[in-house]
Amino acid sequence: MIPLPDLLATRRVGAVLAQVLQGGDVVAMLGDLGAGKTTLVDACVVALGGEGASSPTFALVQEIACAATTVWHADLYRLERADEVVELGLEELLGNPRGVSFVEWADKHQVLPRSCLRLTLHHVGQGGEGSQGGQGSQGRDERALEIEGVGPRGRELAAAFQAALAAVVPAPSAC
Ligand SMILES: Nc1ncnc2c1ncn2[C@@H]1O[C@H](COP(=O)(O)OP(=O)(O)O)[C@@H](O)[C@H]1O
Ligand SMILES: [Mg+2]
Repeated sequence: MIPLPDLLATRRVGAVLAQVLQGGDVVAMLGDLGAGKTTLVDACVVALGGEGASSPTFALVQEIACAATTVWHADLYRLERADEVVELGLEELLGNPRGVSFVEWADKHQVLPRSCLRLTLHHVGQGGEGSQGGQGSQGRDERALEIEGVGPRGRELAAAFQAALAAVVPAPSAC
Protein backbone atom coordinates (compact mmCIF):
# COMPACT_ATOMS: atom_id res chain seq x y z
CA MET A 1 0.00 0.00 0.00
CA ILE A 2 1.22 3.46 -0.87
CA PRO A 3 0.15 6.04 1.71
CA LEU A 4 -1.58 9.12 0.29
CA PRO A 5 -1.79 11.49 3.24
CA ASP A 6 -3.29 14.34 1.26
CA LEU A 7 -4.59 15.43 -2.11
CA LEU A 8 -1.16 16.50 -3.30
CA ALA A 9 0.21 13.02 -2.64
CA THR A 10 -2.51 11.51 -4.80
CA ARG A 11 -1.79 14.00 -7.58
CA ARG A 12 1.93 13.30 -7.38
CA VAL A 13 1.30 9.57 -7.77
CA GLY A 14 -0.87 10.30 -10.81
CA ALA A 15 1.99 12.25 -12.37
CA VAL A 16 4.41 9.37 -11.73
CA LEU A 17 1.99 6.97 -13.40
CA ALA A 18 2.17 9.12 -16.51
CA GLN A 19 5.89 8.32 -16.79
CA VAL A 20 5.37 4.58 -17.16
CA LEU A 21 2.21 4.28 -19.27
CA GLN A 22 2.46 3.19 -22.88
CA GLY A 23 -0.01 3.03 -25.74
CA GLY A 24 -2.43 0.15 -25.26
CA ASP A 25 -2.24 0.17 -21.47
CA VAL A 26 -5.46 -0.21 -19.50
CA VAL A 27 -5.82 0.98 -15.93
CA ALA A 28 -8.76 -0.16 -13.82
CA MET A 29 -9.60 2.43 -11.16
CA LEU A 30 -11.27 0.92 -8.11
CA GLY A 31 -12.46 2.17 -4.75
CA ASP A 32 -15.52 3.79 -3.19
CA LEU A 33 -17.18 7.00 -4.29
CA GLY A 34 -14.96 9.91 -3.35
CA ALA A 35 -11.90 7.71 -2.85
CA GLY A 36 -9.90 9.74 -5.38
CA LYS A 37 -10.08 7.75 -8.61
CA THR A 38 -10.90 10.73 -10.83
CA THR A 39 -8.40 12.88 -8.97
CA LEU A 40 -5.59 10.45 -9.76
CA VAL A 41 -6.65 10.13 -13.41
CA ASP A 42 -6.83 13.92 -13.71
CA ALA A 43 -3.29 14.36 -12.40
CA CYS A 44 -2.03 11.71 -14.80
CA VAL A 45 -3.77 13.31 -17.78
CA VAL A 46 -2.35 16.72 -16.90
CA ALA A 47 1.14 15.19 -16.66
CA LEU A 48 0.60 13.69 -20.11
CA GLY A 49 -0.11 17.17 -21.42
CA GLY A 50 -3.90 16.97 -21.56
CA GLU A 51 -6.40 19.39 -20.11
CA GLY A 52 -7.46 17.03 -17.35
CA ALA A 53 -10.22 14.57 -16.54
CA SER A 54 -13.45 15.12 -14.68
CA SER A 55 -16.32 13.01 -13.40
CA PRO A 56 -18.50 12.37 -16.42
CA THR A 57 -22.03 13.73 -16.38
CA PHE A 58 -23.47 12.45 -19.64
CA ALA A 59 -20.61 10.99 -21.65
CA LEU A 60 -19.47 7.81 -19.97
CA VAL A 61 -16.32 7.66 -22.03
CA GLN A 62 -14.31 10.80 -22.57
CA GLU A 63 -11.55 11.05 -25.13
CA ILE A 64 -8.85 13.43 -24.02
CA ALA A 65 -6.11 14.53 -26.40
CA CYS A 66 -2.73 14.69 -24.69
CA ALA A 67 0.66 15.80 -25.97
CA ALA A 68 1.85 12.49 -27.40
CA THR A 69 -1.06 10.17 -26.76
CA THR A 70 -4.80 9.98 -26.23
CA VAL A 71 -6.52 9.10 -22.98
CA TRP A 72 -9.90 7.40 -22.84
CA HIS A 73 -11.53 7.89 -19.47
CA ALA A 74 -14.53 5.69 -18.79
CA ASP A 75 -16.76 5.58 -15.73
CA LEU A 76 -19.11 2.61 -15.43
CA TYR A 77 -20.78 3.74 -12.21
CA ARG A 78 -24.06 4.64 -13.86
CA LEU A 79 -24.11 1.75 -16.28
CA GLU A 80 -26.60 -0.89 -15.24
CA ARG A 81 -27.00 -3.22 -18.17
CA ALA A 82 -24.41 -5.24 -20.05
CA ASP A 83 -25.80 -4.10 -23.42
CA GLU A 84 -25.15 -0.49 -22.42
CA VAL A 85 -21.52 -1.45 -21.99
CA VAL A 86 -21.48 -2.85 -25.51
CA GLU A 87 -23.06 0.38 -26.84
CA LEU A 88 -20.27 2.38 -25.26
CA GLY A 89 -17.83 0.77 -27.65
CA LEU A 90 -15.35 0.23 -24.86
CA GLU A 91 -14.15 -3.03 -26.30
CA GLU A 92 -12.63 -1.28 -29.29
CA LEU A 93 -10.94 1.33 -27.11
CA LEU A 94 -9.47 -0.79 -24.34
CA GLY A 95 -6.01 -1.83 -25.40
CA ASN A 96 -6.03 0.38 -28.49
CA PRO A 97 -2.34 1.17 -29.05
CA ARG A 98 -3.17 4.79 -30.00
CA GLY A 99 -3.73 5.62 -26.37
CA VAL A 100 -4.19 4.74 -22.73
CA SER A 101 -7.47 3.82 -21.04
CA PHE A 102 -8.72 4.39 -17.52
CA VAL A 103 -11.87 2.64 -16.37
CA GLU A 104 -13.50 3.73 -13.11
CA TRP A 105 -15.74 1.10 -11.48
CA ALA A 106 -14.20 -1.42 -13.86
CA ASP A 107 -15.41 -4.34 -11.75
CA LYS A 108 -19.09 -3.48 -12.28
CA HIS A 109 -19.05 -5.14 -15.68
CA GLN A 110 -16.78 -7.56 -17.43
CA VAL A 111 -14.89 -5.20 -19.66
CA LEU A 112 -11.25 -5.56 -18.76
CA PRO A 113 -8.75 -7.16 -21.11
CA ARG A 114 -6.45 -9.93 -19.93
CA SER A 115 -3.66 -7.54 -19.01
CA CYS A 116 -4.28 -4.43 -16.99
CA LEU A 117 -3.12 -2.41 -14.02
CA ARG A 118 -5.55 -2.41 -11.10
CA LEU A 119 -5.34 0.63 -8.84
CA THR A 120 -7.53 0.59 -5.74
CA LEU A 121 -7.89 3.70 -3.60
CA HIS A 122 -8.81 3.07 0.01
CA HIS A 123 -10.10 5.57 2.53
CA VAL A 124 -7.83 5.32 5.50
CA GLY A 125 -8.21 6.41 8.86
CA GLN A 126 -9.61 7.62 11.90
CA GLY A 127 -13.22 8.14 12.59
CA GLY A 128 -14.05 4.99 10.73
CA GLU A 129 -16.32 2.24 11.83
CA GLY A 130 -15.25 2.34 15.44
CA SER A 131 -16.18 5.98 15.96
CA GLN A 132 -19.33 7.13 17.67
CA GLY A 133 -22.07 9.35 16.40
CA GLY A 134 -21.17 9.21 12.74
CA GLN A 135 -18.43 11.78 13.01
CA GLY A 136 -16.10 9.89 10.72
CA SER A 137 -16.12 12.58 8.06
CA GLN A 138 -14.29 14.87 10.46
CA GLY A 139 -11.20 12.71 10.21
CA ARG A 140 -8.40 13.64 7.88
CA ASP A 141 -8.76 12.95 4.18
CA GLU A 142 -6.18 10.21 3.97
CA ARG A 143 -6.08 7.55 1.35
CA ALA A 144 -3.89 4.58 0.47
CA LEU A 145 -3.21 3.11 -2.94
CA GLU A 146 -3.07 -0.58 -3.71
CA ILE A 147 -1.28 -1.54 -6.94
CA GLU A 148 -1.86 -4.87 -8.66
CA GLY A 149 -0.82 -6.08 -12.08
CA VAL A 150 -2.92 -8.56 -14.00
CA GLY A 151 -1.52 -10.46 -16.98
CA PRO A 152 1.98 -10.02 -18.45
CA ARG A 153 1.79 -6.33 -19.33
CA GLY A 154 -0.20 -5.55 -16.18
CA ARG A 155 2.51 -7.07 -13.98
CA GLU A 156 5.27 -5.30 -15.92
CA LEU A 157 3.43 -2.01 -15.59
CA ALA A 158 2.82 -2.51 -11.86
CA ALA A 159 6.55 -3.19 -11.34
CA ALA A 160 7.55 -0.14 -13.39
CA PHE A 161 5.06 2.05 -11.51
CA GLN A 162 6.31 0.85 -8.12
CA ALA A 163 9.92 1.42 -9.14
CA ALA A 164 9.12 4.92 -10.39
CA LEU A 165 7.30 5.71 -7.15
CA ALA A 166 10.23 4.45 -5.09
CA ALA A 167 12.55 6.73 -7.06
CA VAL A 168 10.56 9.82 -6.16
CA VAL A 169 12.09 11.47 -3.15
CA PRO A 170 9.31 12.27 -0.71
CA ALA A 171 8.75 15.99 -0.44
CA PRO A 172 9.43 17.49 2.97
CA SER A 173 6.19 17.93 4.87
CA ALA A 174 4.95 21.49 4.87
CA CYS A 175 4.54 22.84 8.37
N1 LIG B 1 -5.63 12.16 -0.34
C1 LIG B 1 -6.63 12.39 -1.23
N2 LIG B 1 -6.62 11.77 -2.41
C2 LIG B 1 -7.63 11.96 -3.31
N3 LIG B 1 -8.68 12.77 -3.11
C3 LIG B 1 -8.73 13.42 -1.95
C4 LIG B 1 -7.71 13.27 -0.96
N4 LIG B 1 -8.02 14.03 0.06
C5 LIG B 1 -9.18 14.64 -0.26
N5 LIG B 1 -9.60 14.30 -1.46
C6 LIG B 1 -10.84 14.74 -2.06
O1 LIG B 1 -11.68 13.60 -2.25
C7 LIG B 1 -12.44 13.77 -3.43
C8 LIG B 1 -12.16 12.62 -4.36
O2 LIG B 1 -13.05 12.74 -5.44
P1 LIG B 1 -12.88 11.90 -6.78
O3 LIG B 1 -11.48 11.91 -7.23
O4 LIG B 1 -13.93 12.43 -7.71
O5 LIG B 1 -13.27 10.44 -6.27
P2 LIG B 1 -13.84 9.19 -7.08
O6 LIG B 1 -13.55 9.40 -8.54
O7 LIG B 1 -13.10 8.04 -6.49
O8 LIG B 1 -15.31 9.14 -6.78
C9 LIG B 1 -12.04 15.10 -4.05
O9 LIG B 1 -12.96 16.08 -3.62
C10 LIG B 1 -10.68 15.36 -3.46
O10 LIG B 1 -10.38 16.71 -3.34
MG1 LIG C 1 -14.79 9.33 -10.21
